[in-house]
Amino acid sequence: MLFASLLCAIAVSGVHAVGVRPGQIKNLVTFGDSYTDIVATGDQGTAWPVYAAGYSKTALHPFARSGATCSNNITFRPFPPVFGNQLPLYFTETGNGSLQLPADETIYTLWIGTNDLGVDSLTTGSNGASVVNVSECMVDWVRVLYESGARNFIMQNMIPLELTILYSANTYPNRYWADPHNASDWSILMREMVLSGNMLTKLMLQALAPTLPGSHIAIFDSHSLIQDMFDHPALYLNGTAPLNVTGCWNSCVAPVGGGDLTCTVQNGTARDSYLWTDELHPSEQTDRIVAREIALTLEGNTSKWATWLN
Ligand SMILES: *[C@@H]1O[C@H](CO)[C@@H](O)[C@H](O)[C@H]1NC(C)=O
Ligand SMILES: *[C@@H]1O[C@H](CO)[C@@H](O)[C@H](O)[C@H]1NC(C)=O
Ligand SMILES: *[C@@H]1O[C@H](CO)[C@@H](O)[C@H](O)[C@H]1NC(C)=O
Ligand SMILES: *[C@@H]1O[C@H](CO)[C@@H](O)[C@H](O)[C@H]1NC(C)=O
Ligand SMILES: *[C@@H]1O[C@H](CO)[C@@H](O)[C@H](O)[C@H]1NC(C)=O
Ligand SMILES: *[C@@H]1O[C@H](CO)[C@@H](O)[C@H](O)[C@H]1NC(C)=O
Ligand SMILES: *[C@@H]1O[C@H](CO)[C@@H](O)[C@H](O)[C@H]1NC(C)=O
Ligand SMILES: *[C@@H]1O[C@H](CO)[C@@H](O)[C@H](O)[C@H]1NC(C)=O
Repeated sequence: MLFASLLCAIAVSGVHAVGVRPGQIKNLVTFGDSYTDIVATGDQGTAWPVYAAGYSKTALHPFARSGATCSNNITFRPFPPVFGNQLPLYFTETGNGSLQLPADETIYTLWIGTNDLGVDSLTTGSNGASVVNVSECMVDWVRVLYESGARNFIMQNMIPLELTILYSANTYPNRYWADPHNASDWSILMREMVLSGNMLTKLMLQALAPTLPGSHIAIFDSHSLIQDMFDHPALYLNGTAPLNVTGCWNSCVAPVGGGDLTCTVQNGTARDSYLWTDELHPSEQTDRIVAREIALTLEGNTSKWATWLN
């Protein structure tokens, strides 16, 4: 009896393999914000998708745009969101034949939420939505692409934003926010929103995955990866300056209330010693690590930070 059900389980898993196969993926299609934009790069160097495509020898099709939220109907910002701009452009290009991507050879990534939760949005109460709407929107991205034929997905969850200078309790007035505020309050709020949002997204994806036959969905735990880099920088950072996870290599202090910035900029190989580029963005070396782990995942190899749901 036990043997029979074991055989059955093996047979089922043979039909329904978890994750993608080695060599299967030839196209990487990226959605998101400045963490993923390859032109207006948040790291002021080469963005992670370019490294990931190079490491995995896949063709990159980048749709992420700096400043984006998931949807401007939820969290309005005057930048091109995933819904309303990035997805429509993708559908235009696949619809008119300029972009032809076989579903089984293509993987789609989304890394979003930083602007949705951030200043001039949920943190400052500037949008009448909540992190629940944002997580629902992330999961809708999978649903909408699946309905159009896409099958392979990597959802990159939100990083511990309370570790960035902008949202840390030890902040200083900077290019992103120079007005007085209670920094302890912000870091507590941000931590709560990120942890809750990531759990909501995970639970909703776990519920969604079995309803999408033939799909392969991975959750990439950016949150744990960045936290591990913060806790154990020597495992990841390799620049020629003292390793630094609390500051950034392009640090600009503003007068309280705003005005001319006073910047301290590191150059060359010193930059790879920093977890952060500026008060909000991961550094290029951080992005190389993200790229390495995403490449392992889409190659059908194993990343410690990725979990396939199906
Ligand atoms: C956003 O709102 C507009 C106007 O109401 C609507 O046409 C559009 O479908 C909405 N988009 C999403 C993604 O909900
Ligand atoms: C956000 O979600 C709430 C329910 O949680 C819903 O009532 C509201 O319409 C949503 N807002 C938007 C902008 O989608
Ligand atoms: C397809 O649409 C894209 C985006 O609008 C455009 O840049 C491209 O020229 C179009 N290609 C064709 C063949 O119509
Ligand atoms: C700032 O927020 C923290 C945490 O909520 C609180 O303990 C502290 O009293 C606040 N400080 C001020 C000046 O309001
Ligand atoms: C750090 O390691 C990356 C590979 O992860 C390499 O590309 C980079 O050049 C190294 N940086 C320095 C300063 O050696
Ligand atoms: C980290 O970098 C910041 C500059 O952003 C600097 O002020 C700080 O002293 C550095 N910390 C260490 C431990 O080197
Ligand atoms: C980095 O280069 C800029 C421009 O050359 C210079 O102003 C700055 O002092 C350099 N930074 C350091 C830490 O040497
Ligand atoms: C999987 O990744 C390891 C490095 O983590 C590498 O040595 C190995 O060649 C990779 N295997 C495949 C099939 O890509």
